Amino acid sequence: MKRWPFLTAAVLATTMLLGACGGSQTSTEGETGGDTEEPAVSTGESFVLQAGHSLPEDHPYELGLQEMAKNIEERTNGQVVIETFPNSQIGAERELTEALTLGTVDLVVTSTAPVSNFVPELEVLDLPFLFNDRDAAVAVLEGEIGQEIFASFEQYGIVPLSWGENGFRHVTNGLRPITEPADLKGLSIRTQENPVHRAAFEALGAQPSPMAWTEALTALQQKVVDAQENPAIVADQFNLFEANQKYMTLTGHVYSAALFLLSQETYDKLPEDLRAIVVEEGQKAGEFQRNLIIEMEQESLQNLKEQGMEIIEDVDVDPFREGIVSVYENFSNQDLLQRILDAQ
Ligand code: PAF
Repeated sequence: MKRWPFLTAAVLATTMLLGACGGSQTSTEGETGGDTEEPAVSTGESFVLQAGHSLPEDHPYELGLQEMAKNIEERTNGQVVIETFPNSQIGAERELTEALTLGTVDLVVTSTAPVSNFVPELEVLDLPFLFNDRDAAVAVLEGEIGQEIFASFEQYGIVPLSWGENGFRHVTNGLRPITEPADLKGLSIRTQENPVHRAAFEALGAQPSPMAWTEALTALQQKVVDAQENPAIVADQFNLFEANQKYMTLTGHVYSAALFLLSQETYDKLPEDLRAIVVEEGQKAGEFQRNLIIEMEQESLQNLKEQGMEIIEDVDVDPFREGIVSVYENFSNQDLLQRILDAQ
């Protein structure tokens, strides 16, 4: 396995320069395994990379990937082509993450929650009410703490490219308007496959059922669960109002960060000049994608209202925050948690 530079602009510039000069010494630098060495610069061969995610064609995950694909194809003169597979066509988020570690998928856009089953350093980010607001979240993720979390990916066979955004998660359900934690009592709710999400909903008295998004839709339609939680764009694009979801409470309980990820195997396989372009465009994709989420969020909320969903907007989140204090107290990495709180 080839170690990746920690993706700072300076390192990236060096990689590109050496690649452009045909510097063969970079292709052995940091070598930790006995893999076949790729050429330092490409000799005209082409690569088709498969990129998977769980959301529809008009969601910012796909639009961000399309933008990245277009720029990469242009800059590599068609030597690197990215084929996108939206709507969990090649797996749901947990499966896609595993596929990245095995090198059977090249690129993935995913929310952080299921990835923390592979990269435990991410778990802190899914604590409810962790960030004061979106700007605070972005500052932490784009700053030193985000870089440190990215550095931890190396041991898991995944190269993180950039932080994107899924959005603030809100609770929807088909039984009653939720205005206080007592309304969650006994409610069966689909959660993501993430121990922190599960613990938080348990602490609030709900009955969480962790499952992949692909199973969640059927579970909601068949009333196996009464509730789910996701950003407004997801509720809108998947027509959750047709899946027994009548109420949406704007709890905004989790800032659901997303990730643009590359398989280490793919990284190793690409010649250095092409690799540098893929990494650089992947690093830009997160911010591009985040901005689309901001643009589309209000429109989705409006659409949900027009479709007859009751949106509970003025929610006092303090009782919800107090209801999950035990999850904070029992969280394993108190150090990191405290640093994130102090950084805001
Ligand atoms: O709830 C989830 O599983 C995620 O938020 C989703 C919808 C797959 C988007 O990342």
